[in-house]
Amino acid sequence: MSQRKIFLVFVAISTVSLLLHHGGHLNWTMEALHLGCPALRSHPAPGLKPKHTNVAFLKTHKTASTTMQNLLFRFAERNNLTVALPVQACSHQFCYPRSFTSHFVHPHTLPPNIVTSHMRFNKAEMQRLMPNDTIYVTILREPGSMFESLFSYYNQYCQSFKRVPNGSLEAFLEEPWRYYRPDEKDSMYARNTLTFDLGGDKDRPATDVAYARGFLAEVDRVYSLVMIAEYFDESLVLLRHLLSWDLDDILYVKLNMRTPSSKRSLTPGLASKIRSWNSLDARLYDHFNASLWRQLSVLGAACVAREVKLLQRAQERLMKSCFGGRMPLLRSAAQIKNKDLRPWQPSGKVDIVGYDLPVNLSRGFSSQAQELCLKLIMPEVQYTRVLLRTQSLRYRRGYQLRPAQQSHPIQQPIHTTLPRHLQVQRPASGTGSTATSKPAAGT
Ligand SMILES: *[C@@H]1O[C@H](CO)[C@@H](O)[C@H](O)[C@H]1NC(C)=O
Ligand SMILES: *[C@@H]1O[C@H](CO)[C@@H](O)[C@H](O)[C@H]1NC(C)=O
Ligand SMILES: *[C@@H]1O[C@H](CO)[C@@H](O)[C@H](O)[C@H]1NC(C)=O
Ligand SMILES: *[C@@H]1O[C@H](CO)[C@@H](O)[C@H](O)[C@H]1NC(C)=O
Ligand SMILES: *[C@@H]1O[C@H](CO)[C@@H](O)[C@H](O)[C@H]1NC(C)=O
Ligand SMILES: *[C@@H]1O[C@H](CO)[C@@H](O)[C@H](O)[C@H]1NC(C)=O
Repeated sequence: MSQRKIFLVFVAISTVSLLLHHGGHLNWTMEALHLGCPALRSHPAPGLKPKHTNVAFLKTHKTASTTMQNLLFRFAERNNLTVALPVQACSHQFCYPRSFTSHFVHPHTLPPNIVTSHMRFNKAEMQRLMPNDTIYVTILREPGSMFESLFSYYNQYCQSFKRVPNGSLEAFLEEPWRYYRPDEKDSMYARNTLTFDLGGDKDRPATDVAYARGFLAEVDRVYSLVMIAEYFDESLVLLRHLLSWDLDDILYVKLNMRTPSSKRSLTPGLASKIRSWNSLDARLYDHFNASLWRQLSVLGAACVAREVKLLQRAQERLMKSCFGGRMPLLRSAAQIKNKDLRPWQPSGKVDIVGYDLPVNLSRGFSSQAQELCLKLIMPEVQYTRVLLRTQSLRYRRGYQLRPAQQSHPIQQPIHTTLPRHLQVQRPASGTGSTATSKPAAGT
């Protein structure tokens, strides 16, 4: 009993001292402690343990991963962390769909704490790049809605889809082998995209059960958390606990969405055809959805629900302070006046919406608050550019502070494993190479 009191006093003191360092987050910290999950009492509540800052997030396609990337970018900026970013020749992705190598990383962004830009996962190269206590996280989405989204997003971009008469999803699924060429450029958007992004073989036949099992086990070994897009807030709660982050570290605005009119719902027949065409992805999804729910049940359904509610309330408050009580205005790219906020459009047939800032935002806001509001809704290509600029500045400043470096470069650990010239060869045009001939797509 008295131990419990001592513990509570300790918690109170720690909270107060925490607040002195993180002023302004009083409410959330208090609420989180007050409503905190029972399962957490056995170890320090989040916020009392140092935040884990070395994170590799594998950004998969069409899975709400742009929203996650934005969240990680903001976390990195707030905490002065380094985010590994692609060299210019790779565009804003690590030369996807080529398999990741550390040569794709811009030297001004080394050594990194966080990596989150699109890549095709390569474990050995990632481990070479990242600190050894890095926590690996990724996100999956239900294969039916995912494939429908891929089909619509890459309709004019991916040959396997372009061949289909009338852009008909039904026609594609009726005879996928008629349209799909496994070795063709961009074929990874047309089959088992998640498996491909995770470094697997998208064209293994469904009958190769041993391969599928082995692959699942490998993903399980590498990733501490596999988030599920359908349960995004719940996944964020798990992420927060895993990394000992605060509630305000997981606030987000949904990014890179289509207009509701370019989405469609699937008949059960179509959904099951999608699952069998993408059988490796379907297996991955089922396995990690089950594992997500197991992890959630360890925290306790009531606790998770409370945290989700807190998150949503905090989000509303943030929206209110940023955008005056309403969500920022959802607009098609052409209508967005601020070009820093225009999302990339895959084709004329789908409308990826973005946000515009309210015209009156500049009134009555500190520039710091304005900056945060802008970053919350900044699309990935622009944010990547902004981060590269600020990190390059910081890198050069650091360089000037170390005059010895001019004659005898002090090599940081990562440099020793990298070649001197971090130039990525630009794919010769016309060779069918898949790297960066077009602005590669977002999420
Ligand atoms: C704390 O919450 C109350 C109401 O819930 C609000 O009026 C107040 O501004 C909040 N304080 C801070 C520091 O966020
Ligand atoms: C980040 O760096 C800036 C400038 O060097 C410094 O003022 C700030 O306190 C740092 N923030 C953190 C969280 O370390
Ligand atoms: C991680 O790297 C550090 C420094 O290089 C080393 O001291 C530590 O033992 C390593 N930890 C693990 C778990 O490999
Ligand atoms: C494509 O659309 C046209 C006109 O709507 C229709 O006549 C034709 O049968 C369609 N083709 C396929 C393969 O669905
Ligand atoms: C994910 O798993 C939960 C728990 O087993 C289940 O209720 C839910 O239907 C699954 N979601 C999907 C989209 O399959
Ligand atoms: C901005 O304008 C909208 C509507 O015109 C208004 O509701 C909102 O309160 C204003 N916000 C600020 C910060 O002035």
